[in-house]
Amino acid sequence: MLEYVTDADDPRLTDYTRLRDVELRKSLEAERGLFLAEGEKVIRRAIGAGYPIRSVLTTRRWLASLEDVLGEAAVYVVSDEIMSGIAGFQVHRGALASMERLPLPPMESLVKSGTGRLLVLEDLVDHSNVGAIFRSAAALGVDAVILSPRCADPLYRRAVKVSMGAVFSIPYARMDDWFTGLDRLRAAGYRTLALTPDQSAAPIDGVELGDRVALLLGAEGDGLSSHWLEEADQAVCIPMSAQAMAAGVDSLNVVAAAAIACHGLMRRVG
Ligand SMILES: C[S@@+](CC[C@H](N)C(=O)[O-])C[C@H]1O[C@@H](n2cnc3c(N)ncnc32)[C@H](O)[C@@H]1O
Repeated sequence: MLEYVTDADDPRLTDYTRLRDVELRKSLEAERGLFLAEGEKVIRRAIGAGYPIRSVLTTRRWLASLEDVLGEAAVYVVSDEIMSGIAGFQVHRGALASMERLPLPPMESLVKSGTGRLLVLEDLVDHSNVGAIFRSAAALGVDAVILSPRCADPLYRRAVKVSMGAVFSIPYARMDDWFTGLDRLRAAGYRTLALTPDQSAAPIDGVELGDRVALLLGAEGDGLSSHWLEEADQAVCIPMSAQAMAAGVDSLNVVAAAAIACHGLMRRVG
């Protein structure tokens, strides 16, 4: 259903307004159970994954690109000026869609369903990092992602965008209890490997795996909590070069660490 909107303050556009205010966005998205998908490809992936679409915001020249998948959704057509004012991006990305969240599965149902290769993210704060890790996970054979209770939201706009829609293809769940979460994974048969830059940990290449492996990744600043480091079956590191260490570069970015570890380990699981 096409609706031409000429006023940026029109209440029909509330899902999309004030996108640059990070705190407001976070609360709006969680409160209303919505998230925003940006660009044609990502919107198609979200629809393909079964997320119900609330509405689309686009400009006249991008209408045709999504017409076949929009069904009965409200489509708000605005001028280029309104689009870039609201969306805060160049209009060449075409469209934003407001989508409804689906209920997340409980962790237990996800780990019961034959998922041998897990990534577990503890308290990551950066949405771009979460999105990029989902993208690597989708590319490198991860079956599912488990988030700690405080980990950043994969459906936040920036995470969705950086993941290129991989947040819709990798199943994920959020632990309801951080303290007992790892224990429950171990009880489900996962060998829990704590990835740490600590170079006295076991180098990743020789590490022993099993049928079910959970790779634990820590927060950007502090890394893994001491509780998880102690509880994990083994601490493993990606060896850093002597030059890097001498220069004070003592860890990798968490996205790089996730990609290296998934590439090195996930193929060997099972
Ligand atoms: C930026 S690091 C955190 C650095 C923090 N100072 C620490 O000591 O863990 C974020 C996460 O990336 C992973 N990571 C970074 N460098 C790593 C390495 N060389 N080997 C294994 N994991 C690494 C770990 O999971 C770490 O918790």
